[in-house]
Amino acid sequence: MKIALSTLAGAALALGLIAGPAVAADRGIVVYNAQHESLAKEWAKGFTKETGIKVTLRNGGDSDFSNQIVAEGAASPADVFLTENSPAMALVEAAGLFAPVDADTLAQVPQDYQPSSGKWVGVAARSTVFAYNKDKLKEDQLPKSLLDLSDPSWKGRWAASPSGADFQAIVSAMLQLKGEAATAGWLKAMKENYTAYKGNSTVMKAVNAGEIDGGVIYHYYYFGDQAKTGENSGNVGLHYFKNQDPGAFVSVSGGGVLASSKHSKEAQAFLKWVTGKGGQDVLKTGTSYEYAVGKGAESNPKLVPLAGLQAPKVDPATLNSKKVIDLMTQAGLL
Ligand SMILES: [Fe+2]
Repeated sequence: MKIALSTLAGAALALGLIAGPAVAADRGIVVYNAQHESLAKEWAKGFTKETGIKVTLRNGGDSDFSNQIVAEGAASPADVFLTENSPAMALVEAAGLFAPVDADTLAQVPQDYQPSSGKWVGVAARSTVFAYNKDKLKEDQLPKSLLDLSDPSWKGRWAASPSGADFQAIVSAMLQLKGEAATAGWLKAMKENYTAYKGNSTVMKAVNAGEIDGGVIYHYYYFGDQAKTGENSGNVGLHYFKNQDPGAFVSVSGGGVLASSKHSKEAQAFLKWVTGKGGQDVLKTGTSYEYAVGKGAESNPKLVPLAGLQAPKVDPATLNSKKVIDLMTQAGLL
């Protein structure tokens, strides 16, 4: 009996010893990642190397994940949500599912790249551009404003990928800047004028091949292709609308901690790392060609500096993806 008890005690002790690493493994976080997979992998790798906290990435799209998080509610296995664009973050925020971001993380990012609410934070950014075929359009023939593309003179001459979260984010900015009537009118004209492609890379390929004069996409598709072979962008020029135009919209990629997270300390630490020097350096030196947004952080030197893009002032917390989908559906674009 005595022997059995001590064996039991020994077993318990052994279990206790095993509990050490088991607890450490339990500090791991699950990230619902709608950002580019390669970028998120670099972030996860760097964070784990520095902190020992394991990161499990589940990859998907902005809209799918935001809807999934809302459906899962408090039962969501996600600790962190990362997106390409702000509207998906705003959707989760409106459902009350984010915990406030730690103040020292918010302090690492300028006000322009975070929502007024502090419920999530900008982790990267991307600029809207008009990618055009340099043989088909000379600089003085470029649209002055994104709104110009509703003019009948642009009929059959421009392209977009309306089903993607990227383009929908641009429309959400127009909605906030110009209001519902103007946006609905522009979308109606877009339906008349534009050609639909699936995916922004496909839009750029079509522009490059001269199938179409130009397309509304984000800047990094061009730089990513240039860094590889340039085969899909050799004939492409990038036009930045500037002048606070809706077409100069800079979309903030977001990161947030779910209120239901059981590893909120680790999740907050992840956001702090991503917005800090380690995470922002990945944007400068890696292959995402997205803009760094951290205070004092530099973007890839190949990019046109973010500070000179004259982006319109938009509060990313109020970008309304539901309304955009309604308006685009009414216009026959979705
Ligand atoms: Fe994209």
